[in-house]
Parts: sequence; C-alpha cells; structure tokens
Amino acid sequence: MRSVALPELRQHHGAQTALPWWTALDGVVYDVTGFAKRHPGGERVLRDVCGRDGTAAMVAVHPRDMAARVLSPAEVVGRLDATGITPEDVAKDPTARAAPEREEARPPLEQMLNAFDFEAVARETLSAEAWGYYSSGADDEISLRENHTAFQRVWLKPRVMVNVRAVDTTCEVLPGVSGRSALPLYISATAMGKLAHPDGEQAIVRAAHAANVVYMLPTLSSCTLEEMLAVRAPGQAVFSQLYVNADRERTREYVQRLERAGVRALFVTVDAPQLGRREKDMRNNFTSAKSDVQRGEDVRRDEGVTRAISSFIDPGLCWDDLGWLMGLSRMPLFLKGVQCAEDAVLAFRRGCRGVVLSNHGGRQLDASRSAIECLAEVMPALRAEPGYSRDRFHVYVDGGVRRGADVFKAVAMGATAVGVGRPVLYALAGYGQPGIERLVRVLRDELEMTMRLMGTPRLADASDAHVITRDLATHVTPTPRDFLAETTYEPLQTQTQRAGRKRGDVRGRL
Ligand code: FNR
Repeated sequence: MRSVALPELRQHHGAQTALPWWTALDGVVYDVTGFAKRHPGGERVLRDVCGRDGTAAMVAVHPRDMAARVLSPAEVVGRLDATGITPEDVAKDPTARAAPEREEARPPLEQMLNAFDFEAVARETLSAEAWGYYSSGADDEISLRENHTAFQRVWLKPRVMVNVRAVDTTCEVLPGVSGRSALPLYISATAMGKLAHPDGEQAIVRAAHAANVVYMLPTLSSCTLEEMLAVRAPGQAVFSQLYVNADRERTREYVQRLERAGVRALFVTVDAPQLGRREKDMRNNFTSAKSDVQRGEDVRRDEGVTRAISSFIDPGLCWDDLGWLMGLSRMPLFLKGVQCAEDAVLAFRRGCRGVVLSNHGGRQLDASRSAIECLAEVMPALRAEPGYSRDRFHVYVDGGVRRGADVFKAVAMGATAVGVGRPVLYALAGYGQPGIERLVRVLRDELEMTMRLMGTPRLADASDAHVITRDLATHVTPTPRDFLAETTYEPLQTQTQRAGRKRGDVRGRL
C-alpha cells in the first residue's frame, strides 16, 4: 500500500469540493465520497472526521473493525504518512475526558450505595456531549422531574406479624417467555451505549445475564445488532425495542432478523413520532455521534445527538398499522410509550400482549404524566374489560425508578415489572459491566428489604391494599426536597457565567 502525506491529500481530495471527503482510520486513508451517501446517520455526521484522522471519533461509537467491514478496498487511498500531523488534524473522541480526571471522580464501586450515586459519578466522568444526551429531558424537564417525584407521592401501608424470614424477589418478567429474573425489573432500551463506555451495549447484554435481568435491545444502538446478539449467554432472553422506519421494508427486514436471532418480544416505541426538544443535548451542538442500525436521511447536525440519529422514524405510524406489525413475526408485541387508560384498553382490544406505560424518561412530551400515575388510571380500566387478566395482558412502567421501593409500589399497583434506563447508562459510564451488576444488586436488595418490612414475602402478596395512591394525581402537594435529583439539572451558562464573573461585577460599575 502506498504512503500518502497530508499535502497530497489536501491537494487531490479536497480541491473540487468544499469538504475533503477523506478520512484516516487506524493509519489507512479512505476516500469516503461514496460512503458518505451510505452512512446510516447521514453524510453530515461524517463531516467531523473528513480531512482528518477520524480513528478516535470512529471507535468511540463504532466497533473497531467497522471501517474494514463497510468500506471496500477500492475506497482505500493509501497508508497515512504521519509526518506533519498536528492535533488539529485529528478528530476528537466525543466521549473522551482526560484519564486522570475520570479516575479521580470515581470512588470504589463498593461505595455506590444507590442509583443516585452512579448518577453523581457519571456526571463527572462522562463527556459533556454524553452527559447532555443521557441526562436531558424535553423542554422544561417537568416530566423528567415528575417521573421521580411521583413515586414519592405513593405511600406505603405495611402489614406486621407476617413471617418474612424468606423473601422471594424473583419473577417471570414475561411469563412463559422470558425465564426467571432476579426481580421484576428489566433494562430498558436506550440509544448510543458507546457514549458511556467503549463496550457499549455489549457490556449491558453481559451485565444483564450476570445480574439475571432481561435487556431490551435498542434500535439505535451503537453496537450492531449482531454484536449485541453475539455476546448473549446460551439461553439468555433479550427483548427488542423497535422504531418503525418510514421505509417499511427496512422495518420488516429488521424484525425478521430479530425473530431469527431468537429475540423473545418486540416493544414498538409509540411516543416518538417526532423526537422531543432536549435542550441540554441541543446546546452541545453535538455532531459526531453515529448509530448503526437503520439508514436515515441526511440530518441537521446542529440539533444534538437526538436529531442526528432519529430522522428515519415514521410519524405516520397509527392503530391501522398494528395488524401489519403483528404479521411481521410471531414475537409477542407490546406498545412502549402508552400514557392513558384509553390507549391501554385499545392496545388490549387490538390484540397486543401488553403495554409499557412510559413518557420516554421525560424526553418527549413535557408535562406528560408519570408512568406510575398512569398506572393508577390504567389498571381499573383494564380490569373492567371483558376477558382481561394479568396473565394475558402485561402492563410495564418505566421512568424515574430509582429505588427498590419504587419497584414494589409499581408491582403492588398492578405492573408486571418496571424498566430502568438512565441508571444503567450511568452505572455503565462509571464502572462498565460490574457497575450495572452492582446497580441491579442494590435495587434487588432494596426491594427485598421493602418486601420484608411490608409483610409481603412474595411479589404476589403485594397489592393495592399496600399502597396509598390518593395523592398521586394531585400535582401540588408538599413533597420533601429532592437534593439528590435536583443537583443534576444544568441551566444555561451565559458567556459571563462561563468566564466566572457575576453580572453585578460587570454592570454595577458602568
Ligand atoms: C431513552 N429511551 C429510549 N426509548 C426508546 O424507546 N428508544 C430509544 O432509542 C431510547 N433511547 C433513550 C436514550 C436515553 C439516553 C434515555 C435516557 C432514554 C427511553 C427509555 O427506554 C426509558 O423509557 C426511560 O429511560 C425510562 O426512564 P429512566 O429510567 O431513564 O428515568
């Protein structure tokens, strides 16, 4: 392979167009003019690496062998001659922080006592872009905060003098399909796992197995579907989340790949016909993220990770499509993102196997209610439906689950299980696979303690009689100040604030 130096590249591969359509990956220079059109995230997201060494940026969100797999030998220009390369010629890793900084911010894993501890560490260890993307909620983040605080409006009514020597937190998250889990909890689908950790979703698959919980694979993963599936343990159950592509043929192919691979259930996301405005993410102007799975249109790169990876989602998806979706595979079908009794009942009547009550972690419609509040409305409506039984139609909830007691409250109110999103990403960011395993263990231990103190040694013992939900729908009620959660909100930093000056200091003397 011939050696090529920067001056030659600049002359021959950037002369005709404004953008030099070449990049170097692992020392090999590729002409990406053709690939830009094929790139799943659209050609604009390639801009950051064009005309530069893109290795660090690429491996941060893609598998290392990606270039060799998606670029053909005809697209190889030569071996990069590193003479004269400056830091400006190297595209930066969007996930990177200086290593010493990361280590300093990371207490030993044993010191992580609850889900919030992982969040505090993640905030310090994640890049600004990754933190912005993961932690953000839509608009004023009202629903994001509400998801967590709503659980605090459910009070517990314990029963005493019950033999609670042995407490069993295990259950089948999807009875007859998923096998037994350590507790009624699964890891929900969250996009772009590699922003948290180089192993991305593969680490989550492995951790889910080790912790004995089910993982719902995201459509917008940063590992390929095959990579996620390849690290499953023998017999390990996984679910899949699905964004329906405007190109229905691509969705059909994708669902069939999932079914062939033995994925146990399909969760169609129905709360995202347009992605919410997540301003913390948008402010980062993040342009470097890429996702692997479904091909998108060209994208606006000034709108954060969210818009960059989601332009293919079909806003036309409606109830009439349900029959088509069910016909694509034999996997049980669930709607993820249902937010009221009327839609839950419709899903039941139309033959779904269940719903996830969710507002997408407060990332979609701001001021939408928490899943736990919706649950209180949904369960009586379903129980009034002829033919409904808890075995036939499953109701899951996600959003704001941060304690074992939250899991208990949801199950007592009728949920089959709960999903967790951010806590898993935060545990992954700080500690990789062992972090997620510890997070699940902590939540399981908290649940076990709650069950013992509640006098409900089996999950089936927990019922409406153990929870007081009358304040749930009353949104103005005194709740304790939530110090742990409040410290994660980040307001806009003005130029003056960034420079460390107070407004008064500047204007007061003018
Ligand atoms: C999500 N969620 C999500 N949901 C989905 O259906 N498809 C997706 O691609 C994503 N991506 C995603 C990314 C990130 C960074 C977050 C935080 C969330 C929503 C997710 O599945 C789940 O509904 C919420 O995360 C639950 O709320 P908590 O546990 O994060 O409070």
